[in-house]
Amino acid sequence: MSGERPIGVIGVGWVGLVTAACFAEMGHEVIAMDIDADKVRSLNQREAPIHEPGIDELLERNAARLTFTTEMEHVRESARLLFCCVDTPPTYSGDADLSRVQAVVSQLADDGDYALVMKSTVPSGTGRAIRRDAPGLAYVSCPEFLKEGTAVDDFLHPDRVVIGADADAEWAADEIEAIYRPLGGEIVRTDVASAEMIKLAANAFLATKISFINEIANVCEEVGADVTEVARGMGLDKRIGPSFLRAGVGYGGSCFPKDVSALKQLAGNSGYHFQLLTAVIEVNELQKRRVIGKLQKHLGSLVGKTIALLGLAFKPDTDDMREASSLVLAARLQGEGAEVRGYDPVAGDPARELLPGVGLAGSAEEALDGADAAVLVTEWSEFAELDWKSLRDRMANPLVVDGRNFLDPRRLRDAGFQYEGIGLANGDSDEAASAPESAQASSR
Ligand code: UGA
Repeated sequence: MSGERPIGVIGVGWVGLVTAACFAEMGHEVIAMDIDADKVRSLNQREAPIHEPGIDELLERNAARLTFTTEMEHVRESARLLFCCVDTPPTYSGDADLSRVQAVVSQLADDGDYALVMKSTVPSGTGRAIRRDAPGLAYVSCPEFLKEGTAVDDFLHPDRVVIGADADAEWAADEIEAIYRPLGGEIVRTDVASAEMIKLAANAFLATKISFINEIANVCEEVGADVTEVARGMGLDKRIGPSFLRAGVGYGGSCFPKDVSALKQLAGNSGYHFQLLTAVIEVNELQKRRVIGKLQKHLGSLVGKTIALLGLAFKPDTDDMREASSLVLAARLQGEGAEVRGYDPVAGDPARELLPGVGLAGSAEEALDGADAAVLVTEWSEFAELDWKSLRDRMANPLVVDGRNFLDPRRLRDAGFQYEGIGLANGDSDEAASAPESAQASSR
C-alpha cells in the first residue's frame, strides 16, 4: 500500500517468513531482517529455507514488496510496526529462553516512533518486563496461532486475531487491527498480559485434549472399546468439538512440548503448582513408549529385531523433526536392542543428524524390506497408498503397529498382516486376522 511505511518483521524463521510473505500478499510493503546472512541471501533470491505449502508462490508473486536484510537499522528507520518473530526455545529447566527477544529489544530506542509487536511465544509477564526496562517503547502482544503445514492458510483465514496493548500503545493496536481486519476472524482487543496468556493457554488446552484422548485410548484397549468411535461420539457435542481428539503416539513439534512446559514453569515460578499440565506432559511421554509394549507382545524380546519407522517428522507435510515422537521411539527401540530403520518423505536430511545409528531408507519399501515390524509414526498420505499386499512378502514378519490409527485395519489384515492400532477395539489382531471378512467389517 504505497504511501504507508512498510511493515517490519524481525526474525525470518518459520513464523517470520510466513508473516512477512502473507503481509506482502495482502498488499503491504514488508522489510524483514534476520541475523543469518546466508538465509537473507537465499531469501533475496526467493528461495525459502523451510518446507511450507504455498510459501514459494507467495515469495515469487510478491517479490517486489518484500525486502530481506541483516540490518536492524533498516527496519528501525523505515517501519512503524516491528513484528518480533524470533524463536524462544526451551531451556533445560523448561522455561522459555528469551535471550533472542532481549537482543532485539536492546537494539530498539526507548523513544522511537515505532512499536514492537510480539509474535514470538513468550511467558505472561514478558511484556511487562520489557516495558519496565524500556518504558518509552510502545509494546503490543499479537501472538501467532499458525499450524505448520497450513500456516499460509491459517494466516490469511484466522479464527481470531489477539491484540494486547496497554493505553500508551493503543495507536499501534489500532493500526494492527486495521491491517488484520480485511482477513475476517474475530479481533480480540485486550491487555498485554492476557494476550500472552491466551496463547499459552490455547496451546496447553490443545495438548491436554490430546493427552486426554490418548488416556481414553489406553482405557479403550482394556475394555474393548474403539477410541475412534468414542472420539466421534464425543466430538459431536458442540461444547467438546471434534478436533484434536485423534489418539496416537503423542504430540510433538516446536510448540506444544515447549509451551506446555513453559506454562507449567511459569505457574511454578509464581508459586502455583499446575497439576494438570504435569500429567499432560507425563501422559505424552508414556504414550510414545506404549508402542514398545505392543511390539513386544508380538515379537517377544526386541534384541536383534529390525523395526522400521514410517514417518519421522513430528507431523505430516513438514520436515520439522523438533520433539518428534520418532526421536524417543528410535532411542527406546535401540535401548531394547533392536535395529532401527526409518523413512520419511521429506525429513530425511534433518533426521540424519538427529537419529544416530538409525538406517535411513530412500523409500517405505526399502525400510520395510526384511523388517520384523513396521511402526507408523507420522501419517503421511503416501503410507495409505502403499501396496501392502506385496510388502507382506518383503517383510520378515507381517506386523504393523499403526501409531496414528491411520491405515485401514481391514485392508491390512486382508493382506495378511497382524495390525495394532492405538485404542482400537481389535487391537489384538491375532483372532481378527483369521476371522471372516464380514466379521471384521462389522467390527469397525
Ligand atoms: C500448534 C498449534 O496447533 C497452533 O495453533 C500454534 O500456533 C502452534 O502450535 C504454535 O504455537 O506455533 P503445530 O505445532 O504446527 O501447531 O502442530 P499441530 O498441528 O497443532 O500438531 C501438534 C502435534 O499434536 C503433532 O505432533 C500432532 O501429530 C499431534 N496431534 C494433533 C495429535 O496427536 N492428535 C490430534 O488430534 C492433533
